[in-house]
Amino acid sequence: MQLAINIDHIATLRNARGGTFPDPVEAARICELAGAIGIVCHLREDRRHIRDLDVARLRESLTSKLDLEMAATDEIVGIALRTKPDLVTLVPERRQELTTEGGLDVVAQQSRLADVVRRFRDAGIAVSLFVDPVRDQIRAAHEIGSHMVELHTGEYADAPTPDERRRQFDRIRESAAFGKSLGLGVNAGHGLNYENVTPVARLADIDEMSIGYAVIVRALFVGLEQAVREMKTLIGGR
Ligand code: PXP
Repeated sequence: MQLAINIDHIATLRNARGGTFPDPVEAARICELAGAIGIVCHLREDRRHIRDLDVARLRESLTSKLDLEMAATDEIVGIALRTKPDLVTLVPERRQELTTEGGLDVVAQQSRLADVVRRFRDAGIAVSLFVDPVRDQIRAAHEIGSHMVELHTGEYADAPTPDERRRQFDRIRESAAFGKSLGLGVNAGHGLNYENVTPVARLADIDEMSIGYAVIVRALFVGLEQAVREMKTLIGGR
């Protein structure tokens, strides 16, 4: 199982103070040092976290893969074609949402998405479609030429009861096997954390996980004690 880290929320923190720190590129370097095989960032239409310059600098400096998460809009497709990430992951995007809220409806948008997928394929950029763990969506992704799918694990992560969690896990397991049987690469992500990741990570049909929020939050808590100690030393604190 390979791990790609989504660094959007490093940019959220940076933007909160309007400056240049913390730098998502520096965060990406640390993630790579720790063994991440890829860095994921989502260039949203409203640029609420990652910005155009971040994407350009990440493209310049990464030694691993750059996975650009994006809506299939003309503006962002144009930026992606110019930037040439290693992978684009197409996601639905609604302006008011706190985070991506569900998979793409590939079935309903098949011809429009087919055109976007073709443009990326022609440019030599791998394409993944973020879909709910539903056979028809996975089949449609395959039919329009996507190289891979990323299975949306949000409903699994948010399941309110153990029974529902098992039901959602079975959907992911079956969908991953179905995707593999079609020859697709299969990634998974959204809402995965230190408590719920292990069963999904054991699925042999999933190649890669894309995890952001839980890792950035964990970093705060594993680093906070040292950060306070360093500051206390610096000020000669008692
Ligand atoms: N995969 C996709 C397609 C996403 O939109 C997100 C959230 O940006 C993630 C993975 C990572 O989710 P989380 O931040 O909850 O780990």
